[in-house]
Amino acid sequence: MRNVLSIAGLAHDELHALIKDALLYVPTLGLRRDRREVLSGRNVALAFFEPSTRTRLSFETAAHRLGASTVVFQTQGSSVEKGESLYETIATIEAMRFDALIVRHGTNGVMQEIAKSASFPLVNAGEGTHAHPTQALLDASTLIEKFGDVKGLRIALVGDVRHSRVARSQIELLTRLGAEFAICSPPSFMPTDTDPLLGKLPTIENIDQALEWCSVLSLLRIQRERIDDGVLPSIDEYRAAYACTAQRAHAHPTVAIIHPGPVNLGVEIDAEVLALPNALIHRQVTHGVAVRMAVLRWVLAP
Ligand code: CP
Repeated sequence: MRNVLSIAGLAHDELHALIKDALLYVPTLGLRRDRREVLSGRNVALAFFEPSTRTRLSFETAAHRLGASTVVFQTQGSSVEKGESLYETIATIEAMRFDALIVRHGTNGVMQEIAKSASFPLVNAGEGTHAHPTQALLDASTLIEKFGDVKGLRIALVGDVRHSRVARSQIELLTRLGAEFAICSPPSFMPTDTDPLLGKLPTIENIDQALEWCSVLSLLRIQRERIDDGVLPSIDEYRAAYACTAQRAHAHPTVAIIHPGPVNLGVEIDAEVLALPNALIHRQVTHGVAVRMAVLRWVLAP
């Protein structure tokens, strides 16, 4: 039985095969011939214990494009609101005999726990601050489409690196594929020295220096609540040192700009940047569908 729980859990040839398949699916998206029936008759459950737009919709449409049907569980309106535990919810879903389960949850380690007793393939759709493997795969696929290869790219991660599952999976995958990383964050968002994955990466003081160094600017979402809570300086101070403003993006037209979404316009990025040719943010969403088609096919129709 195949699972996609983390980047570390996938072998080098499996990663390459998933990205290769995704890149084959991309040009067919939106065409009538993109519909395939390889998963016809399969029924996929999505259990989302946290909000999502991109990941949930792209997994659903990916399943449908391959001929599978989907059922979505969301906590709102479910028995979780009556106190049902995570494991009882998962056992209940399992008893309905789905062919695969896609889970998003806010707690680190939850996927490994579920996998211990699951009798069907599991896919991690975002787990705590720990892992978001399909996001990393779509980042890789988008960058390979743009640059031909990830090897040799210099990627500056800007924003809340400490709490980011996107950053962790992205570093894990793209360093394996040959990219180099540096971190550009305010002190309260820097990873701690003891973080085994992030703690030893080089740091860059501000986004202007990052833009001089990098070939890819990888922006992370800033939660406005953290500014309101005083964990961060004011929005103006944050923007002065770390935001991808229109002026900065225009000054570096060869730097590719990626962001997992949802973006905070006027905080880490300006609205005008989204429409620039070097901004790949909406292209990442398209690749998200293709990557999730590749992943579902890999776990369900090996
Ligand atoms: N990138 C990402 O995971 O977005 P959603 O929260 O909208 O799924």
